[in-house]
Amino acid sequence: WPAQAQLIHEINALKKERDAVILAHNYMTPDIFHGVGDYVGDSLGLAKEAAKSKAKVIVQAGVHFMAETSKILSPDKTVLIPDLKAGCSLAEAITGADVRLIKQKYPGLPVVTYVNTTADVKAETDICCTSANAVQVVEWAAREWGVDRVILIPDEFLARNVAAQTNIGIIAWKGRCIVHERFTADDIADMREAYPGAEILAHPECPEEILAAADFAGSTAAMTDYVVAKKPKQVVLITECSMASNIKGDVPEVNFIGPCNMCPYMKRITLENIRDCLRDMTFEVTVPEDMIVKAALAVQRMIDLPP
Ligand code: 13P
Ligand code: SF4
Repeated sequence: WPAQAQLIHEINALKKERDAVILAHNYMTPDIFHGVGDYVGDSLGLAKEAAKSKAKVIVQAGVHFMAETSKILSPDKTVLIPDLKAGCSLAEAITGADVRLIKQKYPGLPVVTYVNTTADVKAETDICCTSANAVQVVEWAAREWGVDRVILIPDEFLARNVAAQTNIGIIAWKGRCIVHERFTADDIADMREAYPGAEILAHPECPEEILAAADFAGSTAAMTDYVVAKKPKQVVLITECSMASNIKGDVPEVNFIGPCNMCPYMKRITLENIRDCLRDMTFEVTVPEDMIVKAALAVQRMIDLPP
């Protein structure tokens, strides 16, 4: 603890010195989430915050695609990530060249891309979505383009889960989140048997049988809001392990039970490397200018949609 408190103190002093803001995803460990995050939230919330931040420097306490999204929305700011290896299995599942081939195969259909993608994929995209707004974005794109099918890439499970909630046809890709694909229907059945009163909340990157068996599905922010508003006696969060650790203090009456999986990419971010990042101004995340212009259209379109 003294070492941790010292690091938090150093980081908060460096933030002032550098005119920096730390955008921390809900999967950060509690020392980062509560100790140094200026804004904490889901992918959509972090993107919105990056767009409106007045700071000179953005430190992305999250993964690389999130830092790229911040750069796309704030090209004049310095965007830093504490570890360049903080990637994402979904972002690695598809390239800009793949998207160009998909567009050739399905001409005239809008391309909706999950924000968990690289900047070159976003640059080939008509509009981005997150797990918080995917159905709304798909329906908007179908209306705008006057079509009854859209391309929704790269998460196979998010695509199937959206398809279950809309009449719009979905053309999907085969990407998967290594954290959420590992949950099974047996995990839910075991929890139901052991804790019959527990509420089960799942992330839309999970396989569809998980969502069908859950009481609620939503983004990390939506899950947090649900727990804080409803305060179930027992809750199972079918998602990354830090979620429960981060909310616990706000809802002491809620008992968090059940399985969780760790994201090895998110866990590369630590208080130590955030301190080093602000001290040494490393590692800067850059995106080529022409790519920024194209990708910004797709991200901004999403942000501009009414809530
Ligand atoms: P959200 O926070 O947008 O729900 O996304 C979860 C995730 O896995 C991001 O990497
Ligand atoms: Fe990517 Fe899944 Fe980790 Fe999120 S939790 S960063 S989607 S691998």
